[in-house]
Amino acid sequence: MGKQKALLVFWLCLFQAGLGFSEENAMRKRLALTPPMGWNTWNKFGCNVSDELVRSMASAMVKSGMKDAGYEYVVIDDCWQVSRDANANIVVDPQHFPSGMKPVADYVHSLGLKFGIYSDAGSKTCAGRPGGLGHEYQDAVRYASWGVDYLKYDWCNTLATQDARASYENIRAALDASGRPIVLSICEWGKHQPWLWGNDAGGNLWRTTGDIQDRWGGKQKWPSGDCCSNGVLAIVDEQVGLESFAGPGHWNDPDMLEVGNGGMTTTEYRSHFSLWAILAAPLMAGNDLRSMTPEIHDILTNKEVIAVDQDELGREGRRISKDGEREVWARPLHDGARALVLLNRGSSEESVAVDWKQIGYPDHLGASVRDLWAHRDLGQFTGKFSAPVASHGVVMVIVRP
Ligand code: GLA
Repeated sequence: MGKQKALLVFWLCLFQAGLGFSEENAMRKRLALTPPMGWNTWNKFGCNVSDELVRSMASAMVKSGMKDAGYEYVVIDDCWQVSRDANANIVVDPQHFPSGMKPVADYVHSLGLKFGIYSDAGSKTCAGRPGGLGHEYQDAVRYASWGVDYLKYDWCNTLATQDARASYENIRAALDASGRPIVLSICEWGKHQPWLWGNDAGGNLWRTTGDIQDRWGGKQKWPSGDCCSNGVLAIVDEQVGLESFAGPGHWNDPDMLEVGNGGMTTTEYRSHFSLWAILAAPLMAGNDLRSMTPEIHDILTNKEVIAVDQDELGREGRRISKDGEREVWARPLHDGARALVLLNRGSSEESVAVDWKQIGYPDHLGASVRDLWAHRDLGQFTGKFSAPVASHGVVMVIVRP
């Protein structure tokens, strides 16, 4: 081959390889064009997972109207696995999943829902069950054979020398090789700034912080003395500056919802849910769907708030003003409107205001304002909008010119 021809072949190969990669990544992105929505066992049930629990929750997801509101994935978090067999295949806990995992996945699918599971990039999961390290391809094939649609991959018990990006690229490649489209949820708690590489590594979402706790306030040490569990406000503060890393197919994940788990007031849960929607966060409910109060049900199924979370433009909202305990968060929507959360972190009612110029509109512009919790049009406003906001509460509106 002449030198020139060889060079041409070289560039063609390179081009094709590049094309292959971007096509593959585009395919993975299509798995989560809007933030994934579903339910996960961890926040309410911890290690108490079983066939019966998962089936009853999937069925409650349909009966309660959660499925109609957009919730799709039923995800079993830690503790479904007990060991590896003589061939190193992962063994499902025979006591709590007596028929294995596939029948559970089949049942979830029969309801028109999708099925998710959890593992870990280290030798053991955070609860000390067998992890995926060294078994990525073997596990991925098994997950695919069960019908897994979503994998949350944790970061406990990894090696000191283990590279986070390479580890997640590895499990992504293993999932792709399984031939089944599987959403990849990166869960390394923001330790290695996954917002910088999570998208290129083929992740569809990545945790940005340590674990959420069912609490309004800031950071608290765990009972062991380790740092730290996060209340809603601590998590929200840590999202500032990460907005531009999210987009269709790849989302910042401020952790799963605690709505309905009993540690916060209804007002606080409404704020938690509104902020997650403004942040384009994955909406993974974490409460018992079989026994929700009407108030909690109305929060989790508020279709107007969910529509903001799922807006097709996929732009994460940002904090556009902070004045002591009063904050305004804004998110541009696909039709040019803005979703706003007026937040009052303080202990008494406050008036919270926003000027049009803060949301990129000219002063003279008239716009309609709709309250997404009252489900009411509030009328036409020009140049600014303000509203009284209860302590720890929000007013969530759409401003539409
Ligand atoms: C970590 C994760 C949690 C949960 C537990 C399970 O703490 O961040 O979301 O998956 O592990 O052990």
